[in-house]
Amino acid sequence: MNPQTPAKIVVTGRIPEAGLDALRAAGDVWAWDSDEVIAVDVRNEQLAAADVAVTLLTDKVDDAFLDAAPNLQLVANVAVGYNNIDVAACTERNVQVTNTPGVLTDATADLAMGLVLMSTRRLAEGERLIRSKTPWQWGMFMMLGTGLQGRTLGIVGMGGIGAAMAMRARAFGMNIVYHNRRSVDEATEQLLGGARRVDLDELLATSDVVSLNCPYSKETHHLIDIDALSLMKPSAHLINTARGPIVDEEALAKALKTGLIAGAGLDVYENEPTVHPGLLDLDNVTLVPHLGSATVETRTAMATTAAANVVAVLGGRDALNPVTA
Ligand code: DGY
Repeated sequence: MNPQTPAKIVVTGRIPEAGLDALRAAGDVWAWDSDEVIAVDVRNEQLAAADVAVTLLTDKVDDAFLDAAPNLQLVANVAVGYNNIDVAACTERNVQVTNTPGVLTDATADLAMGLVLMSTRRLAEGERLIRSKTPWQWGMFMMLGTGLQGRTLGIVGMGGIGAAMAMRARAFGMNIVYHNRRSVDEATEQLLGGARRVDLDELLATSDVVSLNCPYSKETHHLIDIDALSLMKPSAHLINTARGPIVDEEALAKALKTGLIAGAGLDVYENEPTVHPGLLDLDNVTLVPHLGSATVETRTAMATTAAANVVAVLGGRDALNPVTA
């Protein structure tokens, strides 16, 4: 890039204005201005001269994307998850990758806890009942759920979001077990009421609620398959706010239908935005459309974090949130 020429920054999806403002201070910004996913030919036309691409999780940054962007230096993903990006392919072409960790921890943990309550207390089912205009009457045994106090929450993936979810669950009186490559430090375990690291099978067999908070990778593809679901208690609930393909949706639909587990709360889907048809008619699964980070504050912080990475790299400094293969 010629230091006299402003960098061309291509933003492939609509992001909050605060992020765009910060980017405009760093270069010439071209931004897709619609909530529809950008068409490939429109995107490629812009990428042809791009120095930086600011991407969303709906962009697949693969060889085809990179072929269209011969001058690219940086892909700044406006998400903490980066399974939409072939990081190895970027590295091979000397393209840096950044993400937005930290700023969506609380929003995602809040949503995960919301799904726990929706699933265990049958809230969406109750809402559907009223909206269906079916006559109803308070009854001692109407739509009984299960309480959380004294129950065990099993967290798969004890990073920032997993730990934030565990903190919330403690406030509801839950005990915590977790499955993670490494133990969290002892002070955090104590803060979480003596949280214990266990292997996945033990977590699945002993938890009343299992929450998936791990990144998606080859290793976690279909981590929750029919064998894993068979280990869970018939009274247990599965919550997924991480990435859809961690769960084999076909197996989950079967498990929910046959009573292998009691319920599930999902924010993410295996073939997003398509939801497995076997899930759509079941009352014991709560389905929300990938809303984990969907607060005004969080989405703004995600956009400004991505922009801060762009500003740093274009200014010749280290990226703030580098992602490596
Ligand atoms: C992320 O940042 O990875 C989230 O899934 C966005 O909601």
